[in-house]
Amino acid sequence: MKNINPTTTKAWSELERLARDVPTLQHLFAQDKDRFAKYHLNLEDVLVDFSKNNINDIIFKNLLNLAKETDVESAIKSMFNGDKINFTENRSVLHIALRKPKTEKLVVDGVDVVANVHRVLEQMKEFTEQVNSGTWTGYTGKKITDVVNIGIGGSDLGPLMVTEALKPYNQGLKLHFVSNVDGTHIVETLKQCNPETTLFIIASKTFTTQETMCNANTAKAWLLEHAKDNNAIAKHFVALSTNLKAVAEFGIDTKYAFEFWDWVGGRYSLWSAIGLSISLAVGFDNFQKLLEGAYSVDQHFANTPLEKNLPVILALIGLWNTNFLGAQTEAILPYDQYMHRFPAYFQQGNMESNGKYVDRNGNPVSYQTGPIIWGEPGTNGQHAFYQLIHQGRVLIPCDFIAAAVSHNPIGDHHTKLMSNFFAQTEALAFGKSRAVVVEELKKQGKTAEEIEKLAPFKVFEGNRPTNSILVKQITPYTLGQLIALYEHKIFTQGVILNIYSFDQWGVELGKQLANNIIPELENNETITSHDSSTNGLINAFKNWR
Ligand code: F6P
Repeated sequence: MKNINPTTTKAWSELERLARDVPTLQHLFAQDKDRFAKYHLNLEDVLVDFSKNNINDIIFKNLLNLAKETDVESAIKSMFNGDKINFTENRSVLHIALRKPKTEKLVVDGVDVVANVHRVLEQMKEFTEQVNSGTWTGYTGKKITDVVNIGIGGSDLGPLMVTEALKPYNQGLKLHFVSNVDGTHIVETLKQCNPETTLFIIASKTFTTQETMCNANTAKAWLLEHAKDNNAIAKHFVALSTNLKAVAEFGIDTKYAFEFWDWVGGRYSLWSAIGLSISLAVGFDNFQKLLEGAYSVDQHFANTPLEKNLPVILALIGLWNTNFLGAQTEAILPYDQYMHRFPAYFQQGNMESNGKYVDRNGNPVSYQTGPIIWGEPGTNGQHAFYQLIHQGRVLIPCDFIAAAVSHNPIGDHHTKLMSNFFAQTEALAFGKSRAVVVEELKKQGKTAEEIEKLAPFKVFEGNRPTNSILVKQITPYTLGQLIALYEHKIFTQGVILNIYSFDQWGVELGKQLANNIIPELENNETITSHDSSTNGLINAFKNWR
């Protein structure tokens, strides 16, 4: 990949100039009655409407020029070729290989990675069928009823998000996810489980993560306390990891280890063996459809010109909002209860990927990198934080996501849900003028004095940008598409911002310091080795515990 400082491109300067006089959404829509036709795209059963953004033809052209000048097209090729674009860890970035059909080949360092991927997929398929059919039993011969995935970050958020989003496809197993090292998480989970019928999946790329290993050891002790036989471990523990040596040391037979590889980033790993809990929950065929959905977006991303390339367009609009219009956050607002963990999933996906302060040359950047990602399902968010999105002083671009067909078409719930989905982006874009407010207050019989007092509070400026993503239905296939869409958006932004999106050094310092502090908490001495605040807090904790 070329290390191009985006601020040195012609397009960046042009965009800075254009950002000084940005047309409002009200103006853009008034000018062009058919704006939707120009600024929306369909990809099979996914429709992305980006017309409610402050872009016009000249801004859009310069955004595309920014992608061209920063050589996004060859960066996409590099990723798909398996080049070592995760430079600081000297690794390829190949989550796209995890979704390739068996018929394709991708040779990296002399190895056909697609063949390896399908070997593990076969193993996952077989295991899923054994557990779901009841052929696989616990130590007393009973069918497995509960699955506990123990992992954190990328080894938790993806499977948790997908198993929630695809709950209508659940085949019968009860899924639990334990991530937090806070003992409460595992204790409360184990209260719901029977040791004879519970399967633990220890999901950790490195198999060294403090939280995961601590929870895994507690789960092992709990099982042995009941089974009183080490042979029970093989019936109740499987591992998902790149570190098979550590799996064996933990006591899990590597026959029950599902392998993946260092070219799978943690936050891009749900397509790999890390997706075993997904496969168990919804069945292997549905897991396969999830992969197929992502593959369709991979094909679109790799082969579509920039101006029709959905992840590229979403990336450019995001950069426009953050780097030129001053937004610092992006809200993801799924109007679908099953998708309630989607924002949290992309909090890691985006913020761990692009929350960087130096460029690919190691120099501090002068521009914004990853935005703060947050969100909650609609309509709950409407009654919590939308006030600030509508009338606050900070610009919050939002992605609204909804499905035309509900999995639970009960009464008029879906009509009401969708009316809110449509109304919110309309309200955010067009607001309500003072003239309309005054008219409404008059109709309510308010006096001129009352109207004068009240009107400013009831005015909505509008001009708040949004993307609307409407899918026909949330299925394994369309969910795969949605996830891949965001993954490639994040990739494109990283390329343009000239940062490395696939390492995460920023999580290391806290881990290091926590390891230094553990022995200090294990004795009764007064601690003096830190700054006064940290010493004070540790000593107060030691007095109270
Ligand atoms: O601490 C961050 C991180 O390294 C994430 O990138 C990763 O998803 C998570 O920890 C879990 O790592 P592992 O799968 O190796 O346990």
